[in-house]
Amino acid sequence: MCGIIGYCGINNAEDIIISGLHALEYRGYDSAGMTVFTQNGLKTIKTKGRVADLENKAKIMFLEPSGCGIGHTRWATHGKPSETNAHPHGTESVMIVHNGIIENYNEIKKFLSERGYGFLSETDTEVAAKLLDYEYKNEKDKIKAIINTVNQLKGSYAFGIVFKDEPGTVYGVKKDSPLLAGLSGQGNFIASDISAFLKYTGDYIRPEDGEIIRLTSDSVSVYGPEGSPVEKKAEKALWNSAAAEKSGFRHFMLKEIFEEPKVLNDTFDSITKDSYPDFSETIPDDSFFEGIGTIHIIACGTAMHAGLIGKHYIEKLARIPVNVEIASEFRYKDPILSKNDMVIVISQSGETADSLAALRLVNKMNIKTLSVVNTYGSTIARESSHVIYTKAGPEIAVASTKAFSVQAVVMLILALKLSEIQGRLTKEEILKISSSFKNMTKTSLHNVLCNTQNIERAAATTAKHQDVFFIGRGYDNYLGMEASLKLKEISYIHSEAYAAGELKHGTISLIEENTPVIAIATNKDFYEKMRSNIEEVRSRGAYVISICTENADIIKNVSDAVMTIPDDDEFSKPFTAAAVIQLFAYYGALALGRDIDKPRNLAKSVTVE
Ligand code: F6R
Repeated sequence: MCGIIGYCGINNAEDIIISGLHALEYRGYDSAGMTVFTQNGLKTIKTKGRVADLENKAKIMFLEPSGCGIGHTRWATHGKPSETNAHPHGTESVMIVHNGIIENYNEIKKFLSERGYGFLSETDTEVAAKLLDYEYKNEKDKIKAIINTVNQLKGSYAFGIVFKDEPGTVYGVKKDSPLLAGLSGQGNFIASDISAFLKYTGDYIRPEDGEIIRLTSDSVSVYGPEGSPVEKKAEKALWNSAAAEKSGFRHFMLKEIFEEPKVLNDTFDSITKDSYPDFSETIPDDSFFEGIGTIHIIACGTAMHAGLIGKHYIEKLARIPVNVEIASEFRYKDPILSKNDMVIVISQSGETADSLAALRLVNKMNIKTLSVVNTYGSTIARESSHVIYTKAGPEIAVASTKAFSVQAVVMLILALKLSEIQGRLTKEEILKISSSFKNMTKTSLHNVLCNTQNIERAAATTAKHQDVFFIGRGYDNYLGMEASLKLKEISYIHSEAYAAGELKHGTISLIEENTPVIAIATNKDFYEKMRSNIEEVRSRGAYVISICTENADIIKNVSDAVMTIPDDDEFSKPFTAAAVIQLFAYYGALALGRDIDKPRNLAKSVTVE
């Protein structure tokens, strides 16, 4: 979703802003812009399209280097993607960039129109910018004007602000949208996330909602929501800039899939001791896991699918009932929770608006919450009773791959922990499952990643079709849902995922000659049933590509093509199968020449509801 960068320092601000915007591209956007201080005041350029277009435009239009400015990538919410709607917005005296949504912008627009303000764009941001202009003219004090402005806004925002009469200074303020301040000897930054300035510094400050940042080239000051100075402690990034580079891979998505053996191991090691579940790093007291009635897992998209895999593990191993809820539904459905329930929020970014709102709702009900988050110190991590960090490192491709896999391994180890607490599994049984997981990451997963010919062939065949179906049972059904989402989002091929036994209750009418059906049949318990379901669709003309183990002749014999995984234990197979479905989507999108890392209309971090 929208990305913000601001810089004041001794280097060329235009270059630093462009490089920051490139780093923020992965968040998803459809236009870009920047405002910098020049000798003749503020200068703004904008473009519909890519940051590269903005860069070319800057080369022509910015003849003099600047030391300070703000930049933005916009993911359209109010008003279509266009140069006019692109940020920054503002007036002669103040320009702003914004991430979030101002819900009451219509009322404010009316108020300002009555006072002589005109509007060029369709955006809520322009309204906020002109309200700030109005407040600044009245107050003549920048901090007070910012406070008065944000106090009138309903919704979510992170703003980067420059005032014409204060060259070399950038202001920032946030509520429910991410914003950080980066600190370096060569200048200071504000940005939506750390990747925008990681090349220059890993030291940063994390402001709270309502706090105002003031950057100059050699100082970063923070003011509280009332305007008084606040002392903040600087933090250090856990990732270095190399982690956010392609390292010779054609796409970030491919690189991130190939990182899975490492990040699965890193995550496993961080929540086990001698392969035995150990969450003491962030959850020191085991009583947190005791006496749980029902577990509610809340998440969006891919993270929600990892939650479904978690449901399978927890119900199977610990016999605790698990509901998996889509965050945007959960938060508005007046949920029924009991006081001994536990809520788990899963989120790669830790900033997803619906997941955060659901967490806040649960927090008000006094129910214990646990978040499974990849981004250190993110809002969801900070606002839950406890957090387990996944160790995926930065995930740059919009399509989530390694983050899904590490979320699933946290779910597996959590299920083992709960099975121990519930007295369901012996120590030996727990160690057997976790050791075979570890072995799988060392051998089987590498085998899958190094032998992709069948996957590439199957994906290229599928890419010739408009509609694809995924079928599976149990966790294979959940993997099918993730496979379908992955294929849709990056290849734009329409696909649906069905519980294999459910297809004949309606959707089977869509199966025609050569319709691709991907049958995920990795679980021995369902081989016979899956064989019947495959035969049902094949007899209606489907071209069936199965994902099964190398020795599953019962499935292979009824399939037109196969993508195989090694025969690990049932709890490890979802990880190798996940790599197959991710590679399948990747090669399908590659065959169609799609923009794999930045698929259309999508944003990496969904900070609006
Ligand atoms: C799909 C994808 C999304 C995210 C979803 C939740 O590949 O990445 O479906 O999983 O937007 O995001 P987080 O995990 O950041 O809460």
